[in-house]
Amino acid sequence: MDDFVVISGTANPPLARAIAAELGLSLAKCRIERFPDGEVTVEVEQSVRQRQVFLVQPTAPPVNDHLVELIALADACRRAAADWITAVVPYFGYARADRRKARRVPIMARAAANVIEASGIDHLVTLDLHSPQVEGFFEIPVESLTAVPTLVDAVRERVDPQTVIVSPDFGAVERANALARRLGCDIAIVPKRRVSGSEVEAGEPIGRVEGRPCLIVDDMISTGGTIVKAIETLQRAGARDGVRVVATHGVFAAGAQQRLFAAGVEELLVTDTLPAPADEAPDVRRISVAPLLATALRRLALGESLRDLF
Ligand code: R5P
Repeated sequence: MDDFVVISGTANPPLARAIAAELGLSLAKCRIERFPDGEVTVEVEQSVRQRQVFLVQPTAPPVNDHLVELIALADACRRAAADWITAVVPYFGYARADRRKARRVPIMARAAANVIEASGIDHLVTLDLHSPQVEGFFEIPVESLTAVPTLVDAVRERVDPQTVIVSPDFGAVERANALARRLGCDIAIVPKRRVSGSEVEAGEPIGRVEGRPCLIVDDMISTGGTIVKAIETLQRAGARDGVRVVATHGVFAAGAQQRLFAAGVEELLVTDTLPAPADEAPDVRRISVAPLLATALRRLALGESLRDLF
């Protein structure tokens, strides 16, 4: 991997370091600063001329700052004659804004994709995109990987065949199905309606949950509102107490984890695509996707297939 350079933005350096370590590399030295007016400035402090560059930067909150940093790093590498720039964006902010829900509103996922491409990024590696159509917003190749097998391995031992895998809305049904197939469980769906960015409503669950343990799966948890509503609905329908929750992206707005445990979550498992919040609850389990991402990058570097990683 000598021809490769791994650069981290400030969104999640521990994940970038773990990926680099899996590849037997160290992170490239890089200066990233903010001017007093909020503008970002970066300098890559080693040569990237004719090298393949992996830029690791989930566009985690603050999403706009981290997106601009990614663009600044890509522009710096392109102007320094890097041969090929792969952006590793395990969590893609704005992915939920993937369609127009009203007139005169933007499709921000598409706008973010345009900006990323214009910065000179050649290839994108991402994980559990909120919806598959986001991949189509890019002209460059996109490797849209999934953490489902990693999550399944982490919960398999504690899940009995009685467990129902619950999708907390219609958007997560495919993911719930993938989990249920691998664990040999049934699925149920909670019909959700989003009222605002922080408020949701949920209808009666579709599927048999009475007297059974439930495991809710989602792509991301932000305020926790979606999961809390799903739990309330499952409890009304007689599901067994002590719901388990797994999600790829723990975005966790302030107080979200505490809200989830107060609602009756017994186990909360997320990956490390985003850094832990300052108020991380001690009972949260985090599992690393660094081995998965490093495997993907190694194969891309060697021109090998990624087929079994999807
Ligand atoms: C929405 O469709 C997503 O899959 C998640 O369910 C949602 O974004 C989670 O957000 P929150 O935790 O704020 O309800």
